Formats: sequence, C-alpha cells, structure tokens
Amino acid sequence: MKTIRHYCSRSLTKALVIMVTASAILCGCGTVSMSPSKDVKIAVLTYDEHDTFVDSMTKYMTKWCRQKEKETGKRITLSVVGAKKSQLTQNDQVQKFISENYDVLCVNLVDRTDAMVIIDKAMESDTPVIFFNREPVEEDLSRWDKIYYVGALARQSAEMQAKIITDALSDPQKFASIDANDNGTIQYVILEGEAGHQDTLVRTSVCPKELMKAGFSLEKLGDEYANWDRDQGRTRMRELIDRYPFQIEMVIANNDDMALGAIDAIEESNYPLDPFVVGINGTEEALEAIRTMKLDGTVYNDSKGQAEMIMEMAYALGSNEEFPGNVDLTFNKYVFTPYSMITYDNVQKYLRQ
Ligand code: BGC
Repeated sequence: MKTIRHYCSRSLTKALVIMVTASAILCGCGTVSMSPSKDVKIAVLTYDEHDTFVDSMTKYMTKWCRQKEKETGKRITLSVVGAKKSQLTQNDQVQKFISENYDVLCVNLVDRTDAMVIIDKAMESDTPVIFFNREPVEEDLSRWDKIYYVGALARQSAEMQAKIITDALSDPQKFASIDANDNGTIQYVILEGEAGHQDTLVRTSVCPKELMKAGFSLEKLGDEYANWDRDQGRTRMRELIDRYPFQIEMVIANNDDMALGAIDAIEESNYPLDPFVVGINGTEEALEAIRTMKLDGTVYNDSKGQAEMIMEMAYALGSNEEFPGNVDLTFNKYVFTPYSMITYDNVQKYLRQ
C-alpha cells in the first residue's frame, strides 16, 4: 500500500483501492495485499565514518538504491550509520535497527573477531546480515544460513602489489634507479593498516614473501601501523625518515591513503631518495597520484562492485526474492570481487570510470 501511495497520484490510488476491495469481496478473502512486494528497509553500519574506502562504498550503495527505486517504483529506505570505532556502539545500533523493523543489516564490523552479539540479535529477530569488508571469523559466519560476507581476497591484493614491484625491479634500468645505494638489495619499509584486520595481516606478510620468491634481495628497515589513515601514514613515515635518513628505497603500504601519507612525508622532508611507493585500493586521489607519477602503483579494490553486490543481495533478502544470477556465492555465504593492478601504463582506464 505504502509504495503505491508514495508513487501514484491520488486518483490512481483511489482506483486501485476500489479494485482491490472489489476483488477481496469477490474472492471472499479477509486480507488482501495490493502488491506482492513491500518497501525495503536496509541498514548499513560502518566501523567508522572517516574511512575513505568504506565511505566510497556507502556512496555507491546510495546511488544503487536511488536507481533501483526508479526502476521498480518501490521505496527503499537506506540508513547509513558509523560506529566511531566502537563495537559497543555498533551493537546498540544493530539493536535499534532491529527494533525499527529493518529487513536486512549490512555490517562493516568494528572488531571482526567480535560478531557474536550482532549475530545473536539477528538470529533472534530473524534479520539477515551481510557483513562486508571486515571479514568475521569462519566460526561466526557458519552459525546461521542467513549470514553472508562480501569482500575481496586479501591474498590476491598482496600478490598483485608484489607483481607491480617485481615488474619494476625486473627492468634493469628501473632496478638501478630504485636501488639508490647500488648494493643489489632493496631497503624497504611497510605501512600497515589496523592490527588484526584480515587485509593488514595478509598484505603485510604475503607481499614481501612473493618478492623474495621472485628472487629479489630485500631488507626490511621497519614497519609501522598507520591504521589505514593518510595523516598517520605521514607521521609514521616522517619517523621512519628520521630513523633512516638515506636508506629507504621502497614503501609498501597496505592501502592508498597510507601510501599518499608517505609521499606527503617524503615531499615535506625533501628526502634525498625517490622511494618506489605502492598502495592498494585505487582511490581517486591515488589514481591522480599515479597519473602525475608520484605513486608508482596500486591494486584496484572494487568498492563499486562490492557495494552493488551488497545492495543486490540486501534488496533480494528484504523483498523475499531469490538472489539474482550475478550473485555468485561461494559456500552459500561468500562473495569476493576480483582485484586488478594499476600503474602509469593503464591508469587512464581507471580515471575514466
Ligand atoms: C581497505 C582499506 C580500508 C579497510 C577498512 C581495506 O580493505 O584497503 O583502505 O581502510 O579495508 O576496513
């Protein structure tokens, strides 16, 4: 009823009410639903409102919903809230959305190892949950068949980041320009995301391993947590620069914001070397930095693809429909979008997106 009232003119509504009442009388039914489909209420809960990657996902979600409303004429209520990095706040937000009869919860956990309370509440109220970006542990995900996870495989991002580096190091001229002290070994630092995040753990360990597997000699000077954040990346990089004033030849960052923070620090300190810097995500600012040859490469983390997938699934769950064909579930639970590599050579393709 609500949908029709919302989108139709008064007279059309009146006509429909008469038709429905008439058919109810004719078939002798007590209650009649005017339309098999109802409005859909989707709640999106993020771990923090200041994360650029997650923020870009919620923007794509909003766009998807507005477009879907146009196509279907059905109203979609999309509520997005951040938890300011507090799991307790997020648990309360979940409770509130459940009490307001939201159909589905899309949760970007604060603490990915602490999904128990949210899952308990969801199961009690029979509200499906799509976790995203911060992957709950398998034990939690396997508790109920109405729990899903949408993300990307951390290992793939690390392997691609390593491939960008090995491609550069395999070119003798490029190698010579990166190996500033000409000792045949690349001295590097790592800027890590958040402790405990699946992407931090895997990206930090896999990328250097892949480089060594490819036969390059490397020396890690230091690694620092910078919590996915540009300012923290800049501060940590300044400290590393102070510690290693002439030695850093390469910066491996777990994401683009920290890579850009490292570049800020390199520029501000007039660092005498020109380290090779790589990130992950393919944010707009990172693409621009690749185009202007400040950033050497990144790995595209498909925020748009993931956001649209989450909305497709949420909409279907909220409408009691089957998932559409493009929702390709692994173990009936997981959807992973593919990463791709971006360097100066192909950045134009991504800038145009
Ligand atoms: C992204 C980071 C982001 C983090 C948030 C990672 O997949 O690469 O940029 O801050 O997710 O959970």
